[in-house]
Amino acid sequence: MNLERIAESTRFLKGKGVTTPQIGIVLGTGLGNLVKEIKVELEIPYEQIPNFPLSTVESHSGKLLYGVLGGKQILAMQGRFHAYEGYSMEEIVFPVRVLKQLGIEVLLLSNAAGAMNLEFKQGDLMLITDHINKFPFNPLLGKNENDLGTRFPDMHEAYSIDLGNKLHVIAKREGVVLNRGVYISAEGPMLETPAEYRMLRTLGGDAVGMSTIPEVIAARHMELTCCAVSVLTDECDPNNLKPVKIEDIIAIAAKAEKKLTKLFVGLIEEI
Ligand code: HPA
Repeated sequence: MNLERIAESTRFLKGKGVTTPQIGIVLGTGLGNLVKEIKVELEIPYEQIPNFPLSTVESHSGKLLYGVLGGKQILAMQGRFHAYEGYSMEEIVFPVRVLKQLGIEVLLLSNAAGAMNLEFKQGDLMLITDHINKFPFNPLLGKNENDLGTRFPDMHEAYSIDLGNKLHVIAKREGVVLNRGVYISAEGPMLETPAEYRMLRTLGGDAVGMSTIPEVIAARHMELTCCAVSVLTDECDPNNLKPVKIEDIIAIAAKAEKKLTKLFVGLIEEI
């Protein structure tokens, strides 16, 4: 990892006017429309930012949005980087490290995930209370950068209990179903076989997806407070598995997005 590369991107963004972000937001697959609620002050495509990886998947448009949401100065990543696209863990978490250097203290993340807990329904949301990293790598392997964080970061509360509780209160108030559960990762890009869903469920996952965990590991290394929500786009019953198309996943995520937006805006107002 090269601290100078992080510093260079940070300088560039500060020079563009990203001066006082308080909260970072990572928007998942099909969830980019939350940005419509942002009073956008600056819009910076990833390709303009030195050292930023570029998005390759069509459903991710790849830009940083700086502006006001829920009365706070936020910096949103519309489009993230996935291991299945061929990015290294270091590339995947690079933007999060830059966001931290720019001054954010809280990171909110969203993703699309498959529901393995059969009590959860397609289109509903799940607060991630914990995760199981099943990627073969993590972003902290190799030499530790002490300027970013400690060699052996604690993970006893990777997802803030306080923010999770706040989100629950908001969900109740807004009449939104918010399940709680463990997110387990799969590399993708293929979805899982019935046997794999059975295994991932047995391991302790309530929902499975291809993102979020690397970013949260890097964020916790830097002691950012994290809160993450999955949109459950498909029901993964190994004994009754139906075919799923990515178009359906994106459509369901887009439909659920209004609920997610309500929750995130409510939470930002309270942070
Ligand atoms: N598996 C992995 N990732 C996913 C799924 C799934 O079933 N659904 C949405 N993202």
